[in-house]
Amino acid sequence: NGKYTVTLIPGDGIGPEISQSIKDIYTAASVPIEWEEVDVTPILKNGKTAIPDDAIASVRKNTVALKGPLATPIGKGHVSLNLTLRRTFNLFANVRPCVSIQGFKTPYDNVDTVLIRENTEGEYSGIEHEVIDGVVQSIKLITWDASERVARYAFHYAQSSGRKRVTAVHKANIMKMSDGMFLSACRQVAKDFPEISYDEDLLDRVCLQITQNPGPYADRVMVMPNLYGDILSDMCAGLIGGLGLTPSGNIGRDASIFEAVHGSAPDIAGKGLANPTALLLSSLMMLRHMNLNEYADRIEKAALGTIAEGKSITGDLGGKASTREYTNAIVKRLSKA
Ligand code: IPM
Ligand code: MN
Repeated sequence: NGKYTVTLIPGDGIGPEISQSIKDIYTAASVPIEWEEVDVTPILKNGKTAIPDDAIASVRKNTVALKGPLATPIGKGHVSLNLTLRRTFNLFANVRPCVSIQGFKTPYDNVDTVLIRENTEGEYSGIEHEVIDGVVQSIKLITWDASERVARYAFHYAQSSGRKRVTAVHKANIMKMSDGMFLSACRQVAKDFPEISYDEDLLDRVCLQITQNPGPYADRVMVMPNLYGDILSDMCAGLIGGLGLTPSGNIGRDASIFEAVHGSAPDIAGKGLANPTALLLSSLMMLRHMNLNEYADRIEKAALGTIAEGKSITGDLGGKASTREYTNAIVKRLSKA
């Protein structure tokens, strides 16, 4: 029937409410997508957190998924489900665009950068041990292959999105071997992309400079090891108005999962107050990934228009609207366009 099937993981807390908004907006925009909804309530397999088999099978079959926030159960033996998903599907590049939303006022109006975070190793490898009482080691694992792979993705991304520069963000002055190798991999890949300029910058320096003036960082892609990307992407999200407005995509060879970076917000769950924008913008990255750009552009225009008008925005954005009122305002704009 000419429709694409996409796995939808509504998630926990506010997840189901914001997922409903996306479904409604997509119906209104006649997006040719059929959702296959799966539950990702964690199960324990041999004492370890695991994703239910049917959820895994669905993502594997459809190769594209949209995911709401997942809460990680507290207690021993539980690993973050978000990480488990990234690992299960080897989602090696985490793409986080940070672009000022004109019409939503923050101290900055000129943020326009894309962070690409290595998503499978570094401090996230989960290798930790107690050497002797009072001394622990957490291993930061960096491999040439994963560094090369994410660097190549970053250059391809720059090329296809018309960005002119790739900056590798690092602390090779301290992490001489691990970040040093990461940089070597980036330099080698850079040679294959002569039309894109390449440079390197220290993470702490980037934090200092970009908060003083994001201008010089516009038009680039920044690529970096896992933990740096985790932290820097939250900082950059802060520049544009927070995690409620920041999209994200986890890209792998066999599957890609698009997700909002924010948590499940259990304190406001079920109250109709949640802001679905981050999940909506993540879903638009998904549509572009699927080459459904016209739909993405149309929905983006309606959402940004609604935010700029400021009449029907949620509390976290400074308005008084419920999730439903905000969603309806976007739907209304879609029907006018
Ligand atoms: C993110 C999150 C995750 C991370 C958590 C939930 C494991 O903060 O996607 O940035 O640290 O990667
Ligand atoms: Mn994070």
